[in-house]
Amino acid sequence: MLIAIDGPAGAGKSTVARAVADALGFTYLDSGAMYRCVALAELRGAADPLACEIELGAGEVTLDGEDVSDAIRTPEVTARASEVAARPEVRAHLVALQRSMLRDGDYVAEGRDIGTVVAPDAELKVFLTASPQERAQRRAAQTGADAAEVLAEQFARDERDTTREHSPLQPAPDALQVDTTGLSVDEVVSRIARLVQAVR
Ligand code: CDP
Repeated sequence: MLIAIDGPAGAGKSTVARAVADALGFTYLDSGAMYRCVALAELRGAADPLACEIELGAGEVTLDGEDVSDAIRTPEVTARASEVAARPEVRAHLVALQRSMLRDGDYVAEGRDIGTVVAPDAELKVFLTASPQERAQRRAAQTGADAAEVLAEQFARDERDTTREHSPLQPAPDALQVDTTGLSVDEVVSRIARLVQAVR
């Protein structure tokens, strides 16, 4: 079984997808971490960033065998990730990798295009949203950054992600939209757990 959770930055995808995967005993797939790895490889000057080996472990992300779980979360990598994600050759490469990972077993996969491109046949598609202000506040609380700066950076990234030519961020026609504004993580997780029960 596959549950796709897509949505913009700061909507709570990672926290919620991880918690839903734990609750169901499914494997969690963070597709954004893969775009971040390509961005990091490029920033480090790799000759061919797409030739680097990306592995998503239980709690860690490795790039050519090195644990880069923290290195891929810097603001510089975040900004570059949404740039590399607009390139069709990067998307084709990572989508193929994601599809092969999702072939066996039960998954909760999160990103921008899981329900639209990677796995349009997912049994459940959720599109998580929240107001831009709340999304920025959550990210600022997480990282200690200034909320106004996060809001500006988030706006630029949302703009790039939703207007790019290839796989723009948009809900799949059959995705169920969950607005998490004002909801706790537990409330969102139990809402999604109920949606899973309904399709199981
Ligand atoms: O955690 P956050 O939502 O801020 O970012 P992320 O999920 O780690 O994704 C980083 C960037 O990768 C996004 O801004 C997108 O441009 C890109 N991305 C994508 O294009 N497609 C995906 N399936 C996942 C991420």
